[in-house]
Amino acid sequence: MGKSEITALDEVTLHLPDSGIVIISGPSGAGKSTLIRSISGLELPSKGSIYVEGVDITRLGAYELAWFRRKKFGFKPQDPKLIPQLTILENVALPLLFNYVPRKCALEAAMELLQDVGLGERIMHKPDEVSGGEYERASLAQTIIGSPPIVILDEPTAHLDPENSRKIAELVKAKQKETGSLYIVTTLEDTIIREADLRIYINKGRIEV
Ligand SMILES: Nc1ncnc2c1ncn2[C@@H]1O[C@H](COP(=O)(O)OP(=O)(O)OP(=O)(O)O)[C@@H](O)[C@H]1O
Ligand SMILES: [Mg+2]
Repeated sequence: MGKSEITALDEVTLHLPDSGIVIISGPSGAGKSTLIRSISGLELPSKGSIYVEGVDITRLGAYELAWFRRKKFGFKPQDPKLIPQLTILENVALPLLFNYVPRKCALEAAMELLQDVGLGERIMHKPDEVSGGEYERASLAQTIIGSPPIVILDEPTAHLDPENSRKIAELVKAKQKETGSLYIVTTLEDTIIREADLRIYINKGRIEV
């Protein structure tokens, strides 16, 4: 039997600001992850356009899109994966190394950011030696290092207790203020929603106001 076709997003028109915190919420299966994967060019829509800083990313070739994504976006997927053989420090430094930052500078920047997220004591550990909340914070640090102009976080608090959720919310707010970047966050978590400049509610692939 063939699979049925799913329309994950339908007639979605969105204009996002250049800066601030945008929260996307809605029930499971609503299309939140699909929406942010589309915004970041990870998954292109079958119809429609996506403009980022005046560039329609649906028209870019594979190489240009990869370059554009690396320069413009930090993306933390719903289920982030750190590289198990590398330390937490090396994992967090990776995006800078991919952008040709010298190793020493990259590791120093990663060390500083890991201190900010409360993982200063865990830098030499491997990802499977830290707790779920610490793993999430390390993934967040890996996403925001290098201050990309657009930071996208898919459910950064989904597996966390209230205390860790609050820490993530504070961190998102502080880093957004520090960098002036646009943060797009999917969550149902009150502590993060309270920090939003713009709230978007999505249900069954459509935006509701
Ligand atoms: N790769 C895929 N192929 C086909 N359908 C998909 C795929 N990924 C998601 N979907 C479907 O698209 C719809 C939207 O899924 P999406 O993952 O965007 O929802 P979500 O709002 O992020 O949900 P959750 O809160 O559970 O993460 C769902 O019906 C889902 O089953
Ligand atoms: Mg999702």
